[in-house]
Amino acid sequence: MTEVRPIVTELLGQLGSSREARQYLEQFSRVNESRFAVVKVGGGVLAEGLDALVAALAFLHRLGLYPIVLHGAGPQLDQALADAGIETLKRDGLRVTSEEVMAIARPVIYRENARLVDALEHHGVRARGLLHGVFECNFADRERLGLVGEVADVRLDAVRGAVETGALPVVACLGESRSGQVMNINADIATRELVWATKPYKVIFLTPTGGLLDENGRIMSAISLTNDYEGLMAQSWVHSGMQLKLAQIRDMLEPLPASASVSITSAEKLTRELFTHTGAGTLVRKGERIEWFEAVPEARRAALEALLENAFDRRLRSDWLERRPLRGLLMAESGRAAALILEGADGVPYLDKIVVTPEARGEGLGAALWQALRARCPAMYWRARINNPIAGWYFQQAETSHRRDHWVVYTIGIDDYAQMARLVTDAAARDSGWQQEPG
Ligand code: ARG
Repeated sequence: MTEVRPIVTELLGQLGSSREARQYLEQFSRVNESRFAVVKVGGGVLAEGLDALVAALAFLHRLGLYPIVLHGAGPQLDQALADAGIETLKRDGLRVTSEEVMAIARPVIYRENARLVDALEHHGVRARGLLHGVFECNFADRERLGLVGEVADVRLDAVRGAVETGALPVVACLGESRSGQVMNINADIATRELVWATKPYKVIFLTPTGGLLDENGRIMSAISLTNDYEGLMAQSWVHSGMQLKLAQIRDMLEPLPASASVSITSAEKLTRELFTHTGAGTLVRKGERIEWFEAVPEARRAALEALLENAFDRRLRSDWLERRPLRGLLMAESGRAAALILEGADGVPYLDKIVVTPEARGEGLGAALWQALRARCPAMYWRARINNPIAGWYFQQAETSHRRDHWVVYTIGIDDYAQMARLVTDAAARDSGWQQEPG
């Protein structure tokens, strides 16, 4: 395993920066082996994208990462039932599983499990199919749902055993009662139960779409449950299926540490999602609050200075903060994003400093900070160097931009031209607070 790591790290580097990739590889390797990730693979992916799936899993395996793979077989089951002339019946979103349905379902699930395990083994990846012994179930509602299991206990011995011997556990959504009656478990519920039992660092949903879509059909990059959940649930374009998905993800993350996250992506994009800051797909985290302070709290000052100095790679003067008429500080709980707002000319808020670590940007913390800032300051102005790497982004956000020497001054919410001119002059002449002002 160790000899391939450098090669693979280099390959990962080609996705973005190798530093970035290495950082994630370290993060993922730090947790206990069987707690890196639970990967839920829908039946649709097994049907349409087996090769890409196997390639993505093989890649992780080669890196010494052992995700626990859990798969459904919904479309295959629908097909088999249709072939047998049995109508698919759902109640409360669950497949009613009569004995007749189970007789057809069980071999289909075995077959799909074997297809994935065989394909992995064929690719040189050790894999172990786990069809039984993981989920101990009670009847969810025998009368209405038949052989549908409600998970009472998750047994991880076989899962851990597989990982310990270097094999990827491939778990099917079947469980059994204490007496051995086989039961069908809804794949999303099985995923949730497995996640609660293992508390993994990452939960990954591989879907053909590769993420959650916004109203324009574009993949939403990051969702913070703390900041975005309520708003999303209230959007008219968020249909009931997506509402359910979001609610399920929120429940799933609830008992997990704040560092845990859910990625919804496709097999093709999985490597990029995992090993870059920006990712490829939708990242859902509990998220963190953006707090508002009227004065920089003594306990936060050092963190704020370190954040700024690292981001800009320069040193602040020791008196930089004393000379600033502060209006307020917005700072993320983790201290990885902050915006400092001053009293500007004419009483208009001046955005003096804004900073988000690259990793936090991938989590959507930059967007959350900007949202909080816009809510606080309907009108504001700020400046950035012409060659600032995010000048393009500022340009998009601002309503006006004005060049002054090596500065560009941006404004939002200012209509009066005379006032705008005063703000631009004021911004361009401000003290930066840095020890040395490069030309
Ligand atoms: N690589 C990181 C992770 O998997 C960040 C991914 C960011 N992804 C996104 N869709 N914004 O945890």
